[in-house]
Amino acid sequence: MNQFAALKTDYVRKKLASTGIFNHIVYLETTTSTSDVARALPCIQDKHGTLIVAEEQTAGRGRKKNRWFSPKGKGLYFTLVLNPPEMSNVQLITLAAGVALTEAMENTCGLATKLKWPNDVYVRDRKLAGILTEAISRGKKLLAILVGIGINVNHEKGDLAEEIRNVSTSLKIAANKTVSREELLVNVLKSLDLAYRKLLRGSSGEILKCWLEKAAYLGERVVVTNENTSIEGEFIGLSNEGALLLRDYNNNVHEIWAADVIRCRKL
Ligand code: BTN
Repeated sequence: MNQFAALKTDYVRKKLASTGIFNHIVYLETTTSTSDVARALPCIQDKHGTLIVAEEQTAGRGRKKNRWFSPKGKGLYFTLVLNPPEMSNVQLITLAAGVALTEAMENTCGLATKLKWPNDVYVRDRKLAGILTEAISRGKKLLAILVGIGINVNHEKGDLAEEIRNVSTSLKIAANKTVSREELLVNVLKSLDLAYRKLLRGSSGEILKCWLEKAAYLGERVVVTNENTSIEGEFIGLSNEGALLLRDYNNNVHEIWAADVIRCRKL
């Protein structure tokens, strides 16, 4: 039998009580995907601050139909429901979540991490966490934004699926200590709430600045690829809307919205 120490949701609720944020917590021992559970909530347009968290996901998913491996009791796998105003920029919410993750990791276990555009958290060239932001709309009306976050917390090497073992890590492996999932979750939610409020009051410049301070490969030669194309150049920054800015070797600046960023080897 798989023994695990259940997430202490009472502790999380208590710590968040004074902030009034994310205090409607739905805790599941096992589910397919917390983002699928969130998507199925009735009246999702009125569920701001709902947090769905699971000990284990049997069909956790990431960007581009990748799987998100979610072994029981080892990580944090959760989805937040946000009901932002109509014209919100989903990309900026993803970047704000990335900033919140790096701050929370630093505050919880003193680990300095890097952000890889658009949605990954890295430490020493290995992936630690990912963000999957999805918009739910009816016709043209935005009903909710789901921010799905997966963090490898107390995984040992053997808990990382074989196909990702050479490119992923966990906080426990990187920081060389067991990390309180409750404390980390509270810190993520507090930081995310602050970042989200900044976006709402129009201070997205602050989020972009914080994101760039933690950016991996900034100023370096990178290749960005999507299904159809691949462009090489220098990663020079972010647009005001959160797109990646790449200057190619003819000095043309490209605004990239959806792609993978692969760093070039130095010649
Ligand atoms: C990525 O790296 O591509 C994003 C990974 C996002 C994983 C989280 S885990 C909680 C939520 N539920 C899912 O099925 N996916 C997200």
